[in-house]
Amino acid sequence: MAANRDQWNSQIGFLFAAVGSAVGLGNIWRFSYMAYEHGGGAFLIPYVVALITCGIPLLVLEFGLGHERTGSAPLAFAKISRKAEFFGWWPVTFVMFGIVLYYCVIVAWCLNYTIYSLSFAWGSDPNTFFFKEFLKLPKTPMEIGGVNTKVLLSTAAIWFLNWLIVFRGIGKGIELANKIFMPLLFFLTIFLVFWALTLDGALDGVIAYLKPDFQKISSIGVWIDAYSQIFFSLSLGFGIMIAYASYLPRQADISRNAIWTATMDSLFAIVAGLGVFAVLGFMAHAKGLPISKVVTESIGLAFVAYPQALSIMPGGNFFGLIFFLSLVVAGLSSSISILEAFTSAVIDKFNLDRGFVVSAVCAVGFLGSMIFTTNAGLYWLDIVDHFITHYGLVVVGIAECIIGAWIFDIERLRRHINKTSSIKMPKIWDNIIRFFVPAILIIIVIGDLVAEFKAPYGNYPWFSLAMIGINWMLFSIIVAALFAKFPWHYEYMLYTPEEDEDKE
Ligand code: ALA
Repeated sequence: MAANRDQWNSQIGFLFAAVGSAVGLGNIWRFSYMAYEHGGGAFLIPYVVALITCGIPLLVLEFGLGHERTGSAPLAFAKISRKAEFFGWWPVTFVMFGIVLYYCVIVAWCLNYTIYSLSFAWGSDPNTFFFKEFLKLPKTPMEIGGVNTKVLLSTAAIWFLNWLIVFRGIGKGIELANKIFMPLLFFLTIFLVFWALTLDGALDGVIAYLKPDFQKISSIGVWIDAYSQIFFSLSLGFGIMIAYASYLPRQADISRNAIWTATMDSLFAIVAGLGVFAVLGFMAHAKGLPISKVVTESIGLAFVAYPQALSIMPGGNFFGLIFFLSLVVAGLSSSISILEAFTSAVIDKFNLDRGFVVSAVCAVGFLGSMIFTTNAGLYWLDIVDHFITHYGLVVVGIAECIIGAWIFDIERLRRHINKTSSIKMPKIWDNIIRFFVPAILIIIVIGDLVAEFKAPYGNYPWFSLAMIGINWMLFSIIVAALFAKFPWHYEYMLYTPEEDEDKE
């Protein structure tokens, strides 16, 4: 007999874990910068439309598939069709051998910066400090250089924490960690936002962040970005939410949990943005510059603009400590979910001991992270991230809709979800999953491909993009195909008896 499947101790534990996975680095710096760039308050329109028309329906689909089929992404899909199994392995492979490898390195930088905040180690020029002294960034991605010891050590610490949590399993590890992390993160964030709002010039920052520019949202690119942001932020197409839902008891409120997860994730992003822009407003005010001159993109925002502001802010050391600590907590609660997506897939397929799988996966993960701790690490992570998030996640999203709606039976899935959910999914959900979401995702892929051919991403040499980005994708496809080819330890796990209970 296969070992009994782990379960969450409570539904609130599951909700915390799902929110923990969703709320991550992407919410804190990616969202606020994107909103500012794409029309401020007006960006909330495409963002909320994307949330309602794609984010929530897909989250319900992922929760529903994991729960109904009771398995990690590969098992859930293999139970629908052996041919679909690959599309379960591919996401858990590229998140494990892609996203989490560099994600942990960024969390590690945050750990370094938590300590640097105490002494303002970045001195009077945070830009030079971050790129030249801390990262030792060369001119091109192929000048890899040596491993950066400071980053390597903090990366090892982050991998150790990941191991410690996931090793202990669902209830005693992931659930417990998120029950501590999530309230802590919300408390720290609210504290920082209120503090930031009291700073001189904060209001100018908030106005710059939220002032609606309706002209901008007429651009198709803004809508594509809104949908992509929802995708990344809700951890959709990662295989995580399918695995997490597979640990729910049979009586579980799927749709309410999905709506709560999505709402909390979005609220967190919007509120965190207030804090980010209040601080930028303060800095612009103190330096007598317009806001546009102090805003920088994603990584620059946290590691350059913020340190600049901290150095001139009353109590800046403490503010910095809490800000970077919040990033570490948000990042860890997401990285453990990625590890679990892959771990649960391997355990399902090969029936191996969890302790062994988690230890092996973390050891390999740490070794894989090393390339991102080299001097050229920032370039490598930027390129790998671009290809995985723009193509991997979206293609998996399309596959999920096809598998769930066309190969499986979307009406049966809806009946299953509605049977135990307090908020019933309307019939229109079937058609959203059948037609609307795949159509939107296909438009996103085409839009991205067109942009790709117009100009090389990030102005990197084509050779680097092909060597790093495209090869990385090919590698993940080959590894996923190999995993899918192996026989199941318990072949009978693939046969789910027709559930009469799901019939109306
Ligand atoms: N959903 C996670 C984030 O936003 C991966 O960072």
